[in-house]
Amino acid sequence: MMDFICEIIQVLVALAALGFIVVLVVAHLTAGMANVSRHEKEKSFLTATGEKRPFPSLHDPHSRELSVVIPAYNEELRMPVMLDEAMEYLETRQKKTPSFTYEVIVVDDGSRDRTTEIALEYTKKYSADKVRVLTLVKNRGKGGAVLMGTLSSRGKLILMADADGATKFSDIEKVEAGLKDVNSGPENMAIACGSRAHLEKESVAQRSVLRTFLMYGFHFLVWFFCVRGIRDTQCGFKLFTREAALKTFSSLHIERWAFDVELLYIAQCFKIPIAEVAVTWNEIEGSKLVPFWSWLQMGRDLIFICLRYFTGAWKLQSPQKTD
Ligand SMILES: *[C@@H]1O[C@H](CO)[C@@H](O)[C@H](O)[C@H]1NC(C)=O
Repeated sequence: MMDFICEIIQVLVALAALGFIVVLVVAHLTAGMANVSRHEKEKSFLTATGEKRPFPSLHDPHSRELSVVIPAYNEELRMPVMLDEAMEYLETRQKKTPSFTYEVIVVDDGSRDRTTEIALEYTKKYSADKVRVLTLVKNRGKGGAVLMGTLSSRGKLILMADADGATKFSDIEKVEAGLKDVNSGPENMAIACGSRAHLEKESVAQRSVLRTFLMYGFHFLVWFFCVRGIRDTQCGFKLFTREAALKTFSSLHIERWAFDVELLYIAQCFKIPIAEVAVTWNEIEGSKLVPFWSWLQMGRDLIFICLRYFTGAWKLQSPQKTD
């Protein structure tokens, strides 16, 4: 009897080892950088009069105080509300402080609705100096959209902000203050993440048991495999210094949901200081529930982040110019 149990245990251990090796090989073979090459149509934006102008590069020195990068996938309904709020805030701030210059870059991530047309109305109203639209010919995923927008931005600071307007836009001041607090070195490297961690208890009360379970599972995987010390890695309101954006986005591999986690993982590898700042949060109607499949995909991505950097399938890159 004992022998039999021993044999079973041996077989199980062997299977587990084999499974692990298969996962490692798959992780290694499927490793690739995020796609930063652009379709011809993705190299330029339209001015208010409909002329094409080439996008600048993140490698150029900054020429605006702030860039706001808004990834938008089928957001024709929610985005106008968010853009109105953002533009009102930005315009008011510029009137008060004329040295405050800004741009908004809407990245239409291959939408099938009128997201681009609606964003272009803001270009017409405010000029292409203030509002630019980058229309991706194919859907790349949120990480890919934020990446392409960031690579096209001119700001000394770069804010990524979700198109659903769940965060009150004026909370940018809190995030800026958090960024200042941790940005101490001469390299000007810092990141400030908006955070909903202070709202966790409330949101648990409103969610289904399954979603709560998935959320805790996700937090655990993030903590265990990737990023420690940041409670909310997924909030779509994050501020980067231009230097920190260039450094972290240059190493980005993930174009889907888990890209936030990889960015923070990269930042921690480079010892870039990260602030976490509580922001206001409104559950917006029509919020896209993350489908069950995406949770599994995210879980796999998290484990792969850890494995791939560990085995060297993914490496931290130094910023290189691409077009
Ligand atoms: C990268 O994106 C461009 C533009 O969408 C596309 O033409 C190209 O095929 C993509 N490359 C890969 C390897 O997916």
